[in-house]
Amino acid sequence: MIRARIAGTGSCMPEKVMTNFDLEKLVDTTNDWIVTRTGIKERRIAAEGEFTSDLATRAAERALEMAGIPASEIDLIVLGTVTGDYPWPSTACIVQNNLGAKNAYAYDLSAACSGFLYGLGCASDFIQSGRGKKVLVIGAETLSRILDWTDRNTCVLFGDGAGAVVLEAAENSETGLLSTHMHSDGSYLDLLYQPGFGTRMMPSVQGVETGAFFLKMQGNEVFKVAVRSLTDISNEALAANNLSAEDIALFIPHQANKRILEATAKRIKMKEEQVYVNVHRYGNTSSATIPVALDEANRAGLLKVDDNVLLSAFGGGFTWASALIRWS
Ligand code: COA
Repeated sequence: MIRARIAGTGSCMPEKVMTNFDLEKLVDTTNDWIVTRTGIKERRIAAEGEFTSDLATRAAERALEMAGIPASEIDLIVLGTVTGDYPWPSTACIVQNNLGAKNAYAYDLSAACSGFLYGLGCASDFIQSGRGKKVLVIGAETLSRILDWTDRNTCVLFGDGAGAVVLEAAENSETGLLSTHMHSDGSYLDLLYQPGFGTRMMPSVQGVETGAFFLKMQGNEVFKVAVRSLTDISNEALAANNLSAEDIALFIPHQANKRILEATAKRIKMKEEQVYVNVHRYGNTSSATIPVALDEANRAGLLKVDDNVLLSAFGGGFTWASALIRWS
C-alpha cells in the first residue's frame, strides 16, 4: 500500500511582533481581557510589501531543505489560503514560480482555517492514487490585511504566517498519513466570512466606507460550533484508526483560542501535556496554524518515529477536518 509520509516541515513568521499592549493603543481593549478570553499575548504582522506568497515561499523552501528534495521533483503544490495575493491567478502558482518547481501543477484551496488539512487530504489521495510522488502542502495567510483595526471583537484574534510540509510516497509503509477526514456545512456562512469584494459584492466606494472588505465574525456562535466540530472530527479520526486518546503522542488542534483548545482537549480526554499550544505567540493564523505548530514541534524534537500525531481544524464555511499521522 502506498502512503504519504512527511519528509520535511517548514514555517515562516513575519518579523514584526504586535503585542496586546500595542493593541491597547488602537482599540478599547486590555491585555488582561485578551489573555483571559483567548490566551493570545502577541501575533506577527507582515511588513509592507511582504505578501502571502512570500511567507508561503519561505516556509516551502525550509520544508524542501529539511526533506532534501529539490523543488524540480515536486509534482503538485496545494496552498490553503483566504488571503491570496490576487483574486486570481492562484498564490500557489506564484509560489511555484518562486521555487522554480517547474514540474509541479499548483492550485489554491479555499477552506479558511481548515485549508491546510483539506490540502493534506487532497495530497494524500493524490499520492495514494499513484498519480504523483511528491507534494508540497502549504497554509499561508496575511489576515492583518483584511482585519478592521477599529473592531476590538476581531482584530485582537488574528495574525499572519505560513507553514508547509513536503509529502512523499512511501511503499508498503506502516507510517505516514493514516487517515484524513473533511466536512463542510455552508449553512453557517455568515457567522464567519468576508462580505466583499468577490463578484457578489464588487468593490465600491460604499463598500469601502462600510468596511465590507473586512473579516466579520459572530464570535460566541463560532466558539460553540468550533468546540463541537473539533471534538467530533478528533473522535472520528481516533475511531477510524482504532486508537484512543492515550495512544496520541501529540495533538495539534487549530490554534484559534486557548479556551477552544482546552474545551476540545477535555472533551476528547486529551491531557494538557499531549496538546501543542502556540496561540499565545501567534494568535489565529487561519490555515497556517497547524503546519506552523507541526514544524515547531518537529524542529524541537517532540516527534519520534511511530508517534501518533492528531491534527484537527475548524474554520469558516464552516469547514472542519482532521489528519492522523504515524510519524516517520
Ligand atoms: N476587549 C475588550 N472587550 C471586548 C473585546 C476586546 N478585544 N472584544 C469583545 N469585547 C467585549 C464585548 O463587546 C462584550 O461586551 P458587552 O458584554 O458589553 O457586549 C464582552 O466583551 C463579551 O463579549 P463576548 O463575545 O461574549 O466574549 P467571549 O467570552 O465570547 O469572547 C471571543 C469573545 C471572540 C474571544 C470568543 O467568542 C471566541 O474566541 N470565539 C471564537 C472566535 C474564533 O476562534 N474564530 C475563528 C474560528 S476558526
